Amino acid sequence: MKQIKRTVIVEALKRTDIGAEINVKGWVRTRRGNKNVNFIALNDGSTINNIQVVVDLANFDETMLRLITTGACINVNGILAESMGQGQRVEIQATEIEVFGTADPEKYPLQKKGHTLEYLREIAHLRLRTNTFGAVFRIRHNMAMAIHTYFHERGFFYFHTPLITGSDCEGAGQMFEVTTLSLSDPKKTKEGAVDYSQDFFGKRTSLTVSGQLEGELAAMSLGKIYTFGPTFRAENSNTPRHLAEFWMIEPEVAFNTIEENMELAQDFIQYCVRWALEHCADDLDFLNQMYDKELVDRLKFVTENDFQRLTYTDGVAILKAAVANGHKFDYPVDWGTDLQSEHERYLVEEHFKKPVILTDYPKEIKAFYMKQNEDGKTVRAMDVLFPKIGEIIGGSEREADYDKLVARIEELNIPMKDMWWYLDTRRFGTAPHAGFGLGFERLILFVTGMQNIRDVIPFPRTPNNADF
Ligand code: 4AD
Ligand code: MG
Repeated sequence: MKQIKRTVIVEALKRTDIGAEINVKGWVRTRRGNKNVNFIALNDGSTINNIQVVVDLANFDETMLRLITTGACINVNGILAESMGQGQRVEIQATEIEVFGTADPEKYPLQKKGHTLEYLREIAHLRLRTNTFGAVFRIRHNMAMAIHTYFHERGFFYFHTPLITGSDCEGAGQMFEVTTLSLSDPKKTKEGAVDYSQDFFGKRTSLTVSGQLEGELAAMSLGKIYTFGPTFRAENSNTPRHLAEFWMIEPEVAFNTIEENMELAQDFIQYCVRWALEHCADDLDFLNQMYDKELVDRLKFVTENDFQRLTYTDGVAILKAAVANGHKFDYPVDWGTDLQSEHERYLVEEHFKKPVILTDYPKEIKAFYMKQNEDGKTVRAMDVLFPKIGEIIGGSEREADYDKLVARIEELNIPMKDMWWYLDTRRFGTAPHAGFGLGFERLILFVTGMQNIRDVIPFPRTPNNADF
């Protein structure tokens, strides 16, 4: 084949030099046509849009042509031409075609017909090649870029916190243990317990559920930081919103109050959603058309409206009034209980019809580090609740007072020996500060309009599933 520098398809579709020689490489989405001429829809992942390759059958070897089936990978030289067909400005009149890789139509699982998302999860290694997952993962990339850009431009430092840890930040006991001890025959102490002093780190360790505690250490020095990394939770919740391995973004800001924390959360999410509208229009149009006709409207709405702020206590009052008026929830609501996703979504979707930030939760249902309110019952927590998602962000102002923090740690029986380094922030130069965690996949769920969190991370880890 003649050597012509490759043009990626997203660029090829923009070219205007009709008549020029062009090379593209990609995977065949479909092939159709008649006895004389065939049309190949070719995609290389650079955009959801395919380029049309026009093949004059008389000019090509029949045996080679037979290999060009859905899923095959081909290398095409040709002439850029104006397209007569609908939906594209340019196409390629093929002059030479090389088949890099065939995809036997008898065996290749992704044929033209639409597959269910459930089926595609079973072939997560190949689902990447569908339009849907191409769109989702281009958007996922864009959201990561939006996040780094947002914080970088506002003077935050990207801070890397460890994945292996000796402390349970959220105190919910949902940690995956990390050990090199033998499971069948672990070293034992004289008392018969597992002897973690013999383990790799000389102590008991787990995968982190959050980078927050180390993030706070950095905020007490660098002022404004954020983390962005994987977190792990062994919660046995098989829901469309939970993963055992998910990514979290956790900004932490010295001197911020809860009000400033709420402003940051709203501004940050709105920026990310606006970024998607600006940078991912083709992919969003596709998802809007295929899955959720209200997607783009919903995204615009969120960027244009302030989030409703109210206390947990007021939220519970609204929910109880709804129950009194005959609204049925699966789970009961009462002051002091944790809100279920159905309650959160009622507030957002039925009552306020916009995102909600709930604050001042009962201290019993929130983590030890949250700033205690004067009432002795609530803490300065804030959860951001979103349409279709429920909780998308959890955060708080932090307890900066050493004595109050220690009292809370003792109340909750958290082993103090694991916490000495964290407590040092409150012993030396303590400062008011606040932060929050955004679940990355929940953001992607919202932005793509997908219904199941397993469809917005390439290779989901959930109970009983760690394939690929
Ligand atoms: O509310 P969470 O547990 O808060 C924290 O971890 C704090 N340390 C954050 C902070 O203040 N720096 O989790 C934060 C967010 C949730 O709002 C949710 O979006 C997401 O992380 N999340 C999950 N996403 C997917 N699967 C799971 N199992 C998740 N658990 C939490
Ligand atoms: Mg939470």
